Amino acid sequence: MNYIKDFENLSSKRVLLRLDLNVPLKNGHIIDETRIIKIIPILEFLIKRNSKILIISHVGRPKGKFNKDLSLKPICDYLEKKIETRINFISDDILKIKRNDLFKEPDEKVIFFENIRFYAEEERNESNFSKHLASFADLFVNDAFSCSHRAHASVCKITEFLPSFAGLQFETEVNALKKVTIEIKKPITCIIGGSKISTKIDIIKNLIPKFNNIVFVGGMANNILSFKGNRIGKSICEENCKSIIKEIFEISKDQLCEITYPEDVLTGKSTDGDAQTKDLKDIANDDLILDLGPKTLKKIKNIIENSKTVLWNGPAGYFENPNFAEGSFEIAKTIIKKNRDNSIYSVVGGGDTVAVISKINAIKDFNFVSTAGGAFLEYLEGKELPGIKALN
Ligand code: 3PG
Repeated sequence: MNYIKDFENLSSKRVLLRLDLNVPLKNGHIIDETRIIKIIPILEFLIKRNSKILIISHVGRPKGKFNKDLSLKPICDYLEKKIETRINFISDDILKIKRNDLFKEPDEKVIFFENIRFYAEEERNESNFSKHLASFADLFVNDAFSCSHRAHASVCKITEFLPSFAGLQFETEVNALKKVTIEIKKPITCIIGGSKISTKIDIIKNLIPKFNNIVFVGGMANNILSFKGNRIGKSICEENCKSIIKEIFEISKDQLCEITYPEDVLTGKSTDGDAQTKDLKDIANDDLILDLGPKTLKKIKNIIENSKTVLWNGPAGYFENPNFAEGSFEIAKTIIKKNRDNSIYSVVGGGDTVAVISKINAIKDFNFVSTAGGAFLEYLEGKELPGIKALN
């Protein structure tokens, strides 16, 4: 793979830059700017080297049709303020644009195209479409790791028509994931939450042979508790996953990977209610399990204390209600404390987990926080992402 940071002569070169500016929008307003903040370094890097930048991104899933609610214009305006550089937003039909129509003004540095998913050719990974996009530029940079699980034209096919490079954020993201999957410092622990065990089974199976501990928290742990014959009241739990859990326990036994799940919990009668600490045997039929209990938390903190690497995906409880946020916050704080004295390497990923640590202003206190959703999970499953394969 070639990296843009190693490319010497970028001056006046036209760089087609694939970014993932798929940020949450509400009435045209940006709800979370994390993904925007993360791509500022590549823009500054290219501007400093006097390149001509052509940004391609998507937001949402317009399914190949124009949709004014999924315009990138508000994101472009936001970005323009952040980088304090004028951006030329182009909403014209990209298929009609020719190379000579672009950068007509000599001091123009950044062009930003409208949502690339307004064109059906993008998701079809079409060759002619990619060739057309490539004709605008001299080289291609993928700084959208979080889209790299998609075999789309502006991620994959384009690399057949331009010299192609991995961007700065892309490189950081892949290096961080390599550190928890290949260049592992043991003991290594994976803390895994979320609700559906079936969506993460391949990740869990892929990680068990490499990890010393898998700690189940949040909704995910309810599946294990129920499997082990505990009452879980009205708590969320996935149907028909007994064989999956059985397999997890069997593989982990073979691989000497320790599985940890709650031995006590915090329950509520509703998600916006108060918390009660309960041992598993005391869970009532109308209880909802909404956080970890103190004994479990102590055990998990101890596991983190004894780990050299930690991967965390999925909150420990219903952190939206402060009564059930302690489990997630305490896990975060324990990792942060170890991070401060450099005794752990920590990678966090997944929208909800990022929301937890952003709530306590701790994004910078982890070695790496991934904004990638699907791409992060597929990488951990051990899949070769199409965007990485294309760059290779
Ligand atoms: C993401 O948010 O994970 C990426 O932008 C990819 O979006 P998609 O799931 O709509 O392809």
